[in-house]
Amino acid sequence: MDKIRIRGGRPLSGNITIGGAKNAALPLMAAGLLTAERLVLTNVPLLADIQTMAILLRNHGVAVATPGNDGRTLSIGGPIANIEAPYDIVRKMRASFLVLGPILARTGEARVSLPGGCQIGARPVDLHLKGLEQLGAEIRLDAGYVLASAPQGLQGATIVLPFPSVGATENLLMAASLANGQTILANAAREPEITNLAECLVAMGARIAGIGSDRLTIEGVPCLHGATHAIIPDRIETGSYACAAAITGGAVHLRGGRADHLGAVVRTLAEAGVEIREEDGGLSVSRRNGLHGIDFITEPYPGFPTDMQAQLMALMSVAEGASMITENIFEDRFGHAAELRRMGANIKVHGASAIIRGTPMLSGAPVMASDLRASFGLIVAGLAAHGETTVNRVYHLDRGYEAVEQKLAACGADIERVAA
Ligand code: UD1
Repeated sequence: MDKIRIRGGRPLSGNITIGGAKNAALPLMAAGLLTAERLVLTNVPLLADIQTMAILLRNHGVAVATPGNDGRTLSIGGPIANIEAPYDIVRKMRASFLVLGPILARTGEARVSLPGGCQIGARPVDLHLKGLEQLGAEIRLDAGYVLASAPQGLQGATIVLPFPSVGATENLLMAASLANGQTILANAAREPEITNLAECLVAMGARIAGIGSDRLTIEGVPCLHGATHAIIPDRIETGSYACAAAITGGAVHLRGGRADHLGAVVRTLAEAGVEIREEDGGLSVSRRNGLHGIDFITEPYPGFPTDMQAQLMALMSVAEGASMITENIFEDRFGHAAELRRMGANIKVHGASAIIRGTPMLSGAPVMASDLRASFGLIVAGLAAHGETTVNRVYHLDRGYEAVEQKLAACGADIERVAA
């Protein structure tokens, strides 16, 4: 299996182009199941997870084409020939579960494998299922699969989510778009990726009010039509490269990065001593002085995103003073702490909180990525560490970051992919 090898200590300098958001692209691809007409998505990132979702859509009988020659435009459409999302695909990528709402709403039945646990916590799907039941679906569990049926179609309802789950909000929003009557989704998640999805659904003929808020009102329509829709720039990729630049004391321009999607991250980084300015259609990130330890907690949007926690922990491991990070979204998302410790970081984990006492210098080491964002956290650490760091289990990284080693090497990092 491939590894990433980094020799740390070089300040990053240059331009990095931010790709389309993985977490916007995946639900938008699932939305392609809501219509027989063509949904064309642009600014699609070239990632393993996108390939997995394309395989899943094709498994449902839907055509997925890549018109154009850069692979960044996807055209999705056609009749649903198979309502089953098999275990072998769903276990690879939890976002596969997002096909449940669209297939059920369009065909009246769906059979989707339960995703099971993952490295960062149990991650149940109870909120997706309860919400669909409130929309009138009958849900049964059989042999590890969810069997959902609504032969007469889904019925609009008022659903109050006990927690603003991103995936549940997306599944229910898509399903409600084709339900009979009005649905109110209260305490909905309001991540920018959900706004991107809702705007696409509106372009497909859905009637949705309250977009961007935690209360979505959906007037169901009998069918949706084709549309062309652009995927927003990836806010987590943007924040990840901001941390990479900051730890090296460098200066980079993140082309396409949007500050309006990164409010809590920009504020937290500023507190730590990192300058981020909006300019030339992107964000400029630099650090002239030392890094200070800071405290933050992960929360649903617009709070600090859990998907930026590992990268900030790496940054705080070389900051002056102590930091406390509290992880409120996932119960087991500190897998990177033990790996950072192997590089000399001083980190203690107490339940949902981690205390990081900054050390002046990390030392390179072989490390293991525990999940997608943890893998970038280890790269951030490796960029500043003395000596050589080898990040193993790079398949996590490839799920969600496009061409990491090329982007960082173009800014002066000593980084390469080593084929196994
Ligand atoms: C999405 C993102 C992921 C991000 C997460 C939180 C995608 C493809 N993935 O994941 O990168 O880290 O949001 O911002 O967009 N929960 C339940 N029951 C449910 C659903 C969720 O208890 O039915 C819990 C989860 O276990 C977790 C928390 O709610 O503890 C947040 O999960 P959720 O917001 O649903 O995250 P995902 O949609 O899985």
